[in-house]
Amino acid sequence: MDRQEYIELILDYFNNPRNKGSLDDPDLLVNGGNPGCGDVVTLYVRVDEQDRITECKFEGHGCTISMAAASLVTELVPGKTLTQVQHMDYGEIIDTFGREVVQSRLRCATLALDTLQGGAREYPSRKAMGQKLIQPIVLAHTLLTE
Ligand code: FES
Repeated sequence: MDRQEYIELILDYFNNPRNKGSLDDPDLLVNGGNPGCGDVVTLYVRVDEQDRITECKFEGHGCTISMAAASLVTELVPGKTLTQVQHMDYGEIIDTFGREVVQSRLRCATLALDTLQGGAREYPSRKAMGQKLIQPIVLAHTLLTE
């Protein structure tokens, strides 16, 4: 795809977001924010007995790339276990939306995945205590490279 096609794809995800909204009684609910701009995303996740994601939805407000990427993440993670989610890299998001388009906006492109990975790391300890991770936790955005 050329640059214009990547931009059109991003705009399509932004204007026609996949899986936008909340889930009733999620197993995992996490908030993340980009302190540099104040943009926020909330991920709602339902998992099965093996901690494999069966459904993922998002809400939030932010720039075009951050919201488009949040929408993309909700498409990428169903079928993955929370452990597998922890090991996802940013490449799939960057390649889908075009490296040349998002390389200067990596914090935006990775906000949702970073947020979900933070929740996925936290989830096992909550589960061990017999709890769902349903209280929003605000995660510092950790990606330092741009
Ligand atoms: Fe805030 Fe993109 S400008 S996440």
